[in-house]
Amino acid sequence: MNDFFQKDIISIRDLDKQKLETIFKATDKVINLDPNQRREIARGKTLGYLFFEPSTRTRLSFEAAMASVGGTSLGIADVTSSSTQKGESLADTVKIMSIYSDVLVLRHSLDGSSRFAAEISSEPIINAGSGTEEHPTQAIQDLYTIKNIKKKIDGLKIGIVGDLKYGRTVYSLLQGLGNYDVNVSLISPEPLKIRSDSVYEIKKRLDFSETTNLEDVIDELDVVYVTRIQKERFPDEEEYIKVKGSYVIGLDLLKKMKDDAIIMHPLPRLDEISTEVDKTPQAKYFQQAKFGKYTRAALLGLILNENGF
Ligand code: NCD
Repeated sequence: MNDFFQKDIISIRDLDKQKLETIFKATDKVINLDPNQRREIARGKTLGYLFFEPSTRTRLSFEAAMASVGGTSLGIADVTSSSTQKGESLADTVKIMSIYSDVLVLRHSLDGSSRFAAEISSEPIINAGSGTEEHPTQAIQDLYTIKNIKKKIDGLKIGIVGDLKYGRTVYSLLQGLGNYDVNVSLISPEPLKIRSDSVYEIKKRLDFSETTNLEDVIDELDVVYVTRIQKERFPDEEEYIKVKGSYVIGLDLLKKMKDDAIIMHPLPRLDEISTEVDKTPQAKYFQQAKFGKYTRAALLGLILNENGF
């Protein structure tokens, strides 16, 4: 039986290097399979999604992933149109969804929401982003992107830029990187520094330094992972205005980067990467979004098939 069969994916902390590598191998297989064979992986299965926060890529990539492995998707992309508005509890909504689906995908603003849902659901839960700490499938996609393009993860210098305080993709990525021998530079304006309590454990496993000056480190980085300033998570809009536009990657900054460095972003992008960068060979964020579909298809294949695929 494969390790992922009928298992929840709640936190990247639950995935060690061996499990991550299993997903990466399965992703390579998904990419290389003939489309007809690929559609056998989850034929007749249903993915149910519940999004209590906005999403474009994560939800669509799950739907596209499920379609590519032969399954179907149903769900609620905007809870304002569901019975939650009539007062239905998260517990009941999850229970109902698990009646109609073989695997559930949940996004919610509260930390712990996916773990709570997993206790209620009879079917496996995949966390598609909870609170400000966890976004495990994004981290899988990010690590796979690095591995696929750079051909390795160990030995790389990785810069994570932007909103390190509220960006959940950052926390999940750091946890994932803790399985590898990498050097991490955390680059943010002072008010958006990483929450030290949340990285207390990972600090013991990961070699990282912090700076506010991107130009100080940009020429050393193999990967520049840019994030959006999470306006909606600021308690006070005045505070957002102070840090808005702190870093913008444009062609001038790109010239200072290593020729083979890559620029990643979980997207959506606001103004932190100029659109003129999109055509450069270093820009990999759209490819990263594409890998999101394949890594999720691989994960669904592993969760839904006892002996893998
Ligand atoms: C991220 C998220 O929701 O945390 N988006 C995503 O899933 N690609 C990042 C963000 O919203 O900035």
